[in-house]
Amino acid sequence: MQVIEQVASIRTIVQALRCSGKRIGFIPTMGALHEGHLQLMRASARENHVTICSIFVNPTQFNNASDYKLYPRTLEQDTSLLQTVGCDYLFAPSAEEVYPQQSLLRFSFGELETVMEGTHRPGHFHGVATIVGKLFNLVQPHKAYFGQKDLQQVAVVRQLVQGLGFDLELVCHPTVREADGLAMSSRNKRLNPAQRQLATQLYKVLQLAKQDLKQKPLAGIKSEVAHYMQQVDELSLEYFEIADPYTLQPVEDLGQRDEVALCIAAYVGEVRLIDNIVVNLNEI
Ligand code: PAJ
Repeated sequence: MQVIEQVASIRTIVQALRCSGKRIGFIPTMGALHEGHLQLMRASARENHVTICSIFVNPTQFNNASDYKLYPRTLEQDTSLLQTVGCDYLFAPSAEEVYPQQSLLRFSFGELETVMEGTHRPGHFHGVATIVGKLFNLVQPHKAYFGQKDLQQVAVVRQLVQGLGFDLELVCHPTVREADGLAMSSRNKRLNPAQRQLATQLYKVLQLAKQDLKQKPLAGIKSEVAHYMQQVDELSLEYFEIADPYTLQPVEDLGQRDEVALCIAAYVGEVRLIDNIVVNLNEI
């Protein structure tokens, strides 16, 4: 695996790959890699001639300075992991390399930004779109892999691809979980053992809500979730929503729908975690 830090070098490599007819799979990440990321890499290695991963802790998508500062950075370990999963190139640029000057460009995603992560992390999706757009331009992938764990991010990137006409296929990979159900996340590394145990409540709540979907009014399910989460001191619910899996807009009643997404964000101590499940209503 080759590690590239310069924008000019990745451009040259990608140009040569494209000229020789290679199909490129791309997985953008912020590093601190775990099995969730690695499954995306393996999928890409299976489905493309060449796999490129990027690691860049993108300052423009953090709306909390301490979250940015505390974000785990484990480049050496990440590099070794990537060598085991069929990754061919790691692009790991510096902030100066990616953002040589400030940009006046602003992305806005309309109603996608008025719900959930959009409301609670103002400017976050502008930052995500800026970096993902830049990386798509540099890497020119045929397929780009994203995790369902960040469902709203997938919807935003889908809009970015459609809106700017990127010629690529977007793959939404199912969420990879620990044995006890906790969605894998780089932020899990910041949980102490007691908090790690509590963090499993997020997935448990999603499962409980799923069981209630056809039995109870949706508003009742929402208040039950809020009540359930209030019972534990170190857990603080930010939101629980029942939403359309593509537009992420709140669903008031199930009507004739085939699918809904159950989405949750909560603090476990100081660590903010998110999770979601997409429920096929014809199967429950
Ligand atoms: P990061 O949090 O590092 O995640 C990189 C990719 O891995 C994202 O598409 C994310 O959804 C996926 N991922 C994370 N945990 C996962 C899990 N448990 N199962 C499946 N997929 C998982 O998301 C970002 O970085 C950034 O916003 C980025 C897109 C790189 C832009 O900076």
